Amino acid sequence: MKQYSGSFNKRSRLLQVPGLAGTPAGKLKPLEPDTLVDHLGRVLQVQNDFFPCFDWAFPPPLLNKHEPPETAAELFARPSVEPGKYSLYLHIPFCKTLCSFCYYTVLPGRGIEQSETYVDYLVREMALYAPVVQGQWCESVYIGGGTPTYLDDALLVRLLEAIRSHFHCTEDVEISMEAAPGTLPRSKARLLRQLGVNRLSYGIQTLDEALLSTMNRHYSVAEAEQELQGALEEIPNINVDTMYGFEGEPGDALRSTLERFNALGIPSLSIYALDSQRSRSGKSLFGPPLDEQYEHKIHMFAEATDILGGLGYEPVLQNVFVQPGKASYRHQVRRWDNLPLIALGLASQGYAPATPYQNVGAIKPYYQLLDDGRLPIATIDILTPELELIREVASRLRFTQVEVGAIQRKYGVDLDYVFGDLIAALMKIGYLQREGDTLSLTGKAAYYNNIIPMLFAPDAFKEQLMALPEEYLSEYPVPYVMTQAGCTQSAAIRVQAPQAETPLP
Ligand SMILES: C[S@@+](CC[C@H](N)C(=O)[O-])C[C@H]1O[C@@H](n2cnc3c(N)ncnc32)[C@H](O)[C@@H]1O
Ligand code: SF4
Repeated sequence: MKQYSGSFNKRSRLLQVPGLAGTPAGKLKPLEPDTLVDHLGRVLQVQNDFFPCFDWAFPPPLLNKHEPPETAAELFARPSVEPGKYSLYLHIPFCKTLCSFCYYTVLPGRGIEQSETYVDYLVREMALYAPVVQGQWCESVYIGGGTPTYLDDALLVRLLEAIRSHFHCTEDVEISMEAAPGTLPRSKARLLRQLGVNRLSYGIQTLDEALLSTMNRHYSVAEAEQELQGALEEIPNINVDTMYGFEGEPGDALRSTLERFNALGIPSLSIYALDSQRSRSGKSLFGPPLDEQYEHKIHMFAEATDILGGLGYEPVLQNVFVQPGKASYRHQVRRWDNLPLIALGLASQGYAPATPYQNVGAIKPYYQLLDDGRLPIATIDILTPELELIREVASRLRFTQVEVGAIQRKYGVDLDYVFGDLIAALMKIGYLQREGDTLSLTGKAAYYNNIIPMLFAPDAFKEQLMALPEEYLSEYPVPYVMTQAGCTQSAAIRVQAPQAETPLP
C-alpha cells in the first residue's frame, strides 16, 4: 500500500534533516528558554517555499502506517471533537483543457466523456458514508475540481439531488461550486441557484490577455468577464481566483486584475502565488527547482494585500480577501478546526475524527474499489489527541489566527503554558503578535508562513520524524526547521478526551 499523496513539495529545499551535533542520536536539542530567541533567529534564516494557498497540511502526510479501512464505520470509529456536525467535499476532475500551471488531479479534454459514469460512482460513494453521519448535520458542501461546472445540466441536477438525499443539510448550508470560464452560461448559473448552490468560486487567474494566452485556457478576457457578470447576477456570493508570480508577468498585471474585479463588484478575491515547483510542466517551463520568483512573489503578495486593503477588502484567510458582509467562506475556515470532512471522488482529501485521509488518485482503482464495495481510500493517518490538537493550532495559525481560550475550552490545553517560551520568543523576533487572547502571524512572518506553525509540533512527533527512513524523507521533505529548532514545548501536552457524540434530532 505504498501510495503517497503529493501534498509536500518533492523539490523543496527543506529536503535534509540536518545532523544534530551534540545531541544523542534521534533526540532533539532540549529547550533552552534563555537562548531560544537567538536559536530560532538562526534556524529561521532559510529561504522557504512561499506559496500562500490551501495546500498545506499539518501533520505532514508522512507516516502512512495504517491500512485504509474498508468501511466508513471503521473510518469514523473515533470520537469527534466537533460532534454532531460535518461537511462534504466532492471532487469533479473534468476540465476543458489542462492549464499550463495546474497540478490538481484532473482528467482534461475527453475525460468528460466518462462524466456520467463518474457521477454514478460518486453517488455510490455517498451511499457508503451516509449511514455513519445519520442524525448529524452537514453544514457545508464544497464541489471542487477540476471544473464542476463542466458537467452538463442533467448531471448537475443528479449530483445535487443525490447530496440532498444522502446527507442531512442544515437550513443555511453553504453549497460552493468551482467554475472556470467557458463552462458557466447564465442558464447554468440560474440552474445552480435553483439547486441550492449559494456560492461560486470562479477561477480566472488573470485579466491580462497576453499572460492568459500562455496558460492553455482558451477564451478571451472579454468572454470571461461577460460570463462572470451573468453568474454574479444569479449568485452574488462569488469568489474569484487570481494568480501571480508567472514568468514574464507585467509589473501591473495583478494590480489591474484586482482593481477590475473590484469594479465588477466581486465580493471575494483569492490570490495564489504560482507554485511552479509542483506544477507538472514547472520543470521545463520554470527551470531549476529553486524558485527564482521567490522574492518577487513575496513582494507581490505584500502589494496585493495593500491594494485590496485600499479597495475595502479584508483578509479572512491567508490568501482570501472579502468585502465584509458580502461573501461567505465557511468551507475554508472549517477546514482546520477538526470538523469531520467527508471527501468524495478522485484524490479528495478528507478528515474523519482524528483521521486525515486521501482517496486514490487514479480513476481505475477508484472505480474498482467502489465496485468491490470498499471505500476508495489510498492513505490514512491516525492522530493522537496531541497531534489532533496541534493540527488545529498549526493550521489556524497559518491560515487565520488562534484563540488561546477557545483552544483551552475545546481541548483543555493552555497554549501559554505548553508553548510559553516558544510564543514569547516568536513575539520577540517579531513573527507572532498577540491581541488579547488571539495569536496571529505578523506580516514579517510571511517569509516563513509554511514553517513557523510547524514549530508547534509536539516534541515527540518531531523525534518521530527524525527516525523516518530516507525513503520517506525523499517522498515528503520534512521542513527540517522542525527538527533543527529542537524541543519547543515548555510543558507536556495533556489533551482532555473529546465528549461523546450526541446526535442531533
Ligand atoms: C482547483 S483549481 C479550480 C478552479 C478552476 N478549475 C479554474 O482553474 O479556473 C483552484 C485554484 O487553484 C489555483 N491554482 C491552480 N494551479 C496552481 C498553481 N500551480 N499554483 C498556484 N495556484 C494554483 C488557481 O487559482 C485555481 O483557480
Ligand atoms: S486550473 Fe482549473 S481549469 Fe485549469 S486544469 Fe486546473 S483545475 Fe482545470
